[in-house]
Amino acid sequence: MNNQAPALLFLLAALVLPACSRVSDSAPPEPAAPLETPQTAEDIIISEQDERVGRGQAIAETACAGCHAIGAADESPHPDAPALRLLNRTIDLDTLDARFAAGTISDHPDMPDWQFEQIDAAGLVAYLKSVQTSTPE
Ligand code: HEC
Repeated sequence: MNNQAPALLFLLAALVLPACSRVSDSAPPEPAAPLETPQTAEDIIISEQDERVGRGQAIAETACAGCHAIGAADESPHPDAPALRLLNRTIDLDTLDARFAAGTISDHPDMPDWQFEQIDAAGLVAYLKSVQTSTPE
C-alpha cells in the first residue's frame, strides 16, 4: 500500500456517499407488482381477437371512414355508401375477405377495389363483425 491509498478511499467515499444518501431520501421503492396470474388459452384468444379488431378499426378509420360511417351511430359521408355497421344486412361478412381479394365488392365507381395484399382483411372483417348492429338475415 502506498500512502496515497487513504486519500483515494476518502475520495471514493466522497463520491459514493452523497449518491447513497440521495437514494435513501427518495420515495420508498414501489412494492413489487403482484405476479400476473397465468393467462388461460381463452384469455389469449380474446386478446388476439381484440388485437385483430384494433387493427381492423385502424384500417376502417384510414381507408373507409372517408365514405362509410364506421361507428355505432355516425352518418356515412358518402350518400351511397352504407354504414359499415349495417353491412351484414346486405353482404356475407364471412366471404368478404375473399371478395376483397377478387375485387368484387361493389360496381359503384366510388367504391375502391381493395387488393387482398394491400389490406389486413382478417383484421378488417373482425372489426366489421364487431360493429354490426343487426344479425344477418
Ligand atoms: C371513396 C368512397 C369509398 C371508400 C373509401 C370505401 N367505400 Fe365502400 N362503398 C362506397 C360506395 C359508394 C359503395 C356503393 C354502394 C352501392 O353499391 O350502392 C360502397 C360499397 C361497399 C360495400 C358493399 C355494400 C353492399 O351492401 O353491397 C362494402 C362491403 C364496402 N363498401 C366496404 C368498404 C370498406 C370495408 C372500406 C374500407 C376498407 C370501403 N368500403 C371504403 C364508397 C367507398
